Amino acid sequence: MAARINPSILAADFVNLERDLGAIATADLVHVDVMDNHFVPNLTFGPQMVGRIQDVSPIPLDVHLMIDDPDRWAPGYAELGAYSVTFHAEAAADPVALARRLRAIGARAGIALKPGTSAEGYLDLLPEFDQVLVMTVEPGFGGQSFMVETMPKLRSLREAVAARGLDVWLQVDGGITEETIVVAAENGADTFVAGSSVFRGEPAERIAILRSAVAA
Ligand code: DX5
Ligand code: ZN
Repeated sequence: MAARINPSILAADFVNLERDLGAIATADLVHVDVMDNHFVPNLTFGPQMVGRIQDVSPIPLDVHLMIDDPDRWAPGYAELGAYSVTFHAEAAADPVALARRLRAIGARAGIALKPGTSAEGYLDLLPEFDQVLVMTVEPGFGGQSFMVETMPKLRSLREAVAARGLDVWLQVDGGITEETIVVAAENGADTFVAGSSVFRGEPAERIAILRSAVAA
């Protein structure tokens, strides 16, 4: 299965976003980190900004909502055309109902798990989702170190997806480099979010390096 590389524009230059979106056109999806300063202690952008990103991006949007009350806000991101919308399990009042709404609008539905959140309670809900995001750092900031202790959870999700014969993407986010991407792939990830490791160099080159690190 081909690995998907989703650069996170959290590490882009916010006043040159259109330029930086163009620079990652060879990636699969652009990962857009929405933070509300409540669910996480950091603030990025909201629907208006994400709508403009959607207008100018050469590749579709993978929206990661690190916000309280996604039940209220997530459908708006699906309506503006995001390819996938992922909300945090810890923040949603009714994850299944929300996933169904997102799918009905036409977006892929994703559920994200912080490092301390166990996957156990969500395994039976896997058919309701198109992707699971395993956070490999505490959400809120780019440039942190990959937490290898999240790998058993990723592995258990891969086993559950395989045992149930599902096509659910397993995404990792945080501290992904050409070294840690190999560890995550070995433990079952197929979709890789990378912020600083893409934008600290020439993005197209960095995307190619990450891709070749996990090429079968
Ligand atoms: C962190 C965000 C990540 C972040 C990853 O809360 O969800 O998407 O951009 O950044 P790096 O790749 O620098 O760890
Ligand atoms: Zn993210």
